[in-house]
Amino acid sequence: MNGPPPSAFPTFGGTKGEQADALTIVSLTVSYRSRGREREVLQDVTLRVKRGETYGLVGESGCGKSTAALAVLRYLPRNGRVKAGRISIGGRDVAALDADALLGMRASAVSMVYQDPGRALNPSLTIAHQVSEAFEVTGVSADDALARTADMLKRVRIASPERVMESYPHQLSGGMQQRVVIAMALACNPELLILDEPTTGLDATVEAEVLDLIVQLRAEIGMAVLLSATTSP
Ligand SMILES: Nc1ncnc2c1ncn2[C@@H]1O[C@H](COP(=O)(O)OP(=O)(O)OP(=O)(O)O)[C@@H](O)[C@H]1O
Ligand SMILES: [Mg+2]
Repeated sequence: MNGPPPSAFPTFGGTKGEQADALTIVSLTVSYRSRGREREVLQDVTLRVKRGETYGLVGESGCGKSTAALAVLRYLPRNGRVKAGRISIGGRDVAALDADALLGMRASAVSMVYQDPGRALNPSLTIAHQVSEAFEVTGVSADDALARTADMLKRVRIASPERVMESYPHQLSGGMQQRVVIAMALACNPELLILDEPTTGLDATVEAEVLDLIVQLRAEIGMAVLLSATTSP
């Protein structure tokens, strides 16, 4: 997969602060090692997501969309490796972050919604439990976290948050699960939200609703969004 050329070639260093892009990827090459062989699945990918902008990463299955999303937050599996290129979030070079700074960035600046919403939710915990945990890690009290959970579920247009909070994931539809996962991702008030195929597995009507919701939330919250979607080959 090769990204489109950026409108202006991204620069590193000296761009911290207000002007820095939400995300810059320059000449990224990622490989996976399996059965003793290394295979490059991303080659020389460059893209730039400005603050508050939505950027769509579109390509056929297997072209490396999830790999790119995982590389941004250094979540690649152990057999995956960034061979070349640079990634910066808000002007900070991701490769240069130490463990604490990386955790801090994942907890505050960037959120990721993984490809399968069902897997992002723990089947044995109520929605209230798991969404409020996402608020508690930001340092608020348990009571406050529950109140914020109800608010956030309303923000993602869940009509009856109290009922949903008492539910377990399997009691919700796929579209509702996706809204819950988005609510969790927004708990840290991210500057960059990465959504890896947020509508896969949803029917066309629900897909349109979720995409519409993402557009509205982006406008309300002002975060940048990196969104991936699959095209048929
Ligand atoms: N852990 C892994 N080990 C080895 N190869 C992998 C691994 N994960 C992905 N790949 C390979 O890397 C390539 C890119 O995979 P990736 O999951 O990033 O694609 P994708 O664009 O997200 O696909 P999809 O639209 O199906 O989700 C594929 O050829 C895939 O088989
Ligand atoms: Mg994928």
